[in-house]
Amino acid sequence: MASSLAVLISLVACATLASGASGVRVELTRLHSSRLVRDAVRRDMYRRLAASGDTVSAPVSKGPSSSGEYLMTLAIGTPPLSYPAIADTGSDLIWTQCAPCTDQCFQQPTPLYNPASSTTFSTNNQTYNQTYGTGWTAGIFASETFTFGSSPADQTSVPGITFGCSLASSNDFNGSSGLVGLGRGSESLVTQLGAGKFSYCLTPFQDTTSTSTLLLGSSASLNDAGVGSTPFVTNPTMEPMNTYYYLDLTGISLDTTALSIPADAFALKADGTGGLIIDSGTTVTSLVDVAYQQVRAAVLSLVTTLPATDGSAATGLDLCFGPPSSTSPPPAMPSMTFHFNGADMVIPGDSYMVLDPDSGLWCLAMRSLTDGGPSILGNYQQQNIHILYDVGQQTLSFAPATCSTF
Ligand SMILES: *[C@@H]1O[C@H](CO)[C@@H](O)[C@H](O)[C@H]1NC(C)=O
Ligand SMILES: *[C@@H]1O[C@H](CO)[C@@H](O)[C@H](O)[C@H]1NC(C)=O
Ligand SMILES: *[C@@H]1O[C@H](CO)[C@@H](O)[C@H](O)[C@H]1NC(C)=O
Repeated sequence: MASSLAVLISLVACATLASGASGVRVELTRLHSSRLVRDAVRRDMYRRLAASGDTVSAPVSKGPSSSGEYLMTLAIGTPPLSYPAIADTGSDLIWTQCAPCTDQCFQQPTPLYNPASSTTFSTNNQTYNQTYGTGWTAGIFASETFTFGSSPADQTSVPGITFGCSLASSNDFNGSSGLVGLGRGSESLVTQLGAGKFSYCLTPFQDTTSTSTLLLGSSASLNDAGVGSTPFVTNPTMEPMNTYYYLDLTGISLDTTALSIPADAFALKADGTGGLIIDSGTTVTSLVDVAYQQVRAAVLSLVTTLPATDGSAATGLDLCFGPPSSTSPPPAMPSMTFHFNGADMVIPGDSYMVLDPDSGLWCLAMRSLTDGGPSILGNYQQQNIHILYDVGQQTLSFAPATCSTF
C-alpha cells in the first residue's frame, strides 16, 4: 500500500468536486436478509477481529456477511454502469468486482463492470489485497469516472476517482457489488471528492420499502430541530485506526438514570487503543466491557414480564428475552442516551432492542467488546437519526428524524 501512495495522491488531486457545485446525492437502501440478527452480529465480530489484528498496512473494512448493511447506489465508467455498494464510514477503499472474474468472484446483484467496455478506465496495474477478519478482496488500483445521483437532473459525474478493480474476492460480500469507504483516509470517497461533509439518515431495519439519501458536499446540512454537535477525536496512530471517526463519549443513561460507568471508559489512549467510533458499516453497537455490563444490568432490571435468556448461540447477543407473544408482548422501553462531549444522542427503545425473526427472541442489540479494539456505535443504533459528518469542521452533528421522508 505504501508504495502506491504517490500515485493515489496525484489521482486524488484531479477528482475534487468543482467549487460551487452543491454536491452529490446518492440513494441509500438497506440490504435485507432473513437471518438479519445472527448474520449481522457474525459479520460485526469478524470485523472486530480485523480491527484488532497486528497488521497496519491496510485499512480495515468489512466482515463477511453483508446483512445489516446499508447500500449506496452509484455508477462507474463511461457509459455509466450502476451498482450497489456497502456504505462504510469505517474504511476508505472504494471497490467493485471487475470482469473478467474467472475464478474467485462472488455472485453480485448487478452485471459485472468491464473495464474494457469503458472509455474512461485507466490503471498502472498496481496491485492490492485488502484483507479482513475472514474475508478479502484483491485486484489492481485504477481510475474511473463515477456518476452519482438517480435521476438525470440530479446526476454528477466526477472523473479520476481512484478505486479498487477487484479481480478476486472471498465470498463474503453477498448482496452488494462492492463497497464504498467513507472514512477519513486519502482513498475514501469523501476525501477524493473533497466533499468536506456528508450526511445520511438510516431508515429503520424493519422498514423494507423506504430508501433515503446520502448527500456529499455542500448540500449536506442539518436544518432539523434538536441538532446537537460533538467534535471528532483524532487517533494519533497509523492506519487503520486514523481512518475512523472517533467521538468523545462521556457517559450513558437509561431513561433518566446515569449508569455508573468510569469516566475514562471510552477514552482514546495515547497509544491509539480504546475510544469509540461511529460506523455505518457495523450493525450492532459494541461497548468496552465495563460499560456494557452496566447497560446490560440496567436493561435486565427493566424487563420483568419476559424471562431473560442467553441468546448467544441463536443470535450472537447475550441478553435476550422471551420469546414475546401476543399475550405477552415486549414491554415499552425508555430511551437510552449517549452523552457525547457537547451533545446528547437519544436512542429510542426500538433502536437498541431487536426482535430476532429466527429465534423469536427479543434482544439487546449491543455487545461487549472482547478484543481490545475501539467501542463502536453501530448502524442499528443510528436508525432514524439524521447525521452529518463535517470533515472540515471536524464535528459530528445529529438530530432525531423520520428517515423514510428524506
Ligand atoms: C497493465 O496490464 C495490462 C495487461 O497486462 C497491459 O495491457 C497494460 O499495458 C498495463 N498498463 C500499464 C500502465 O502498465
Ligand atoms: C489475499 O489475502 C488473503 C489473506 O491473506 C489470501 O487468503 C488470499 O489468497 C489473497 N488473495 C490474492 C489474490 O492474493
Ligand atoms: C449469496 O446470495 C445468493 C442469492 O441470495 C444465494 O443463493 C447464495 O447462496 C449466497 N451465497 C452465500 C455464500 O451466502
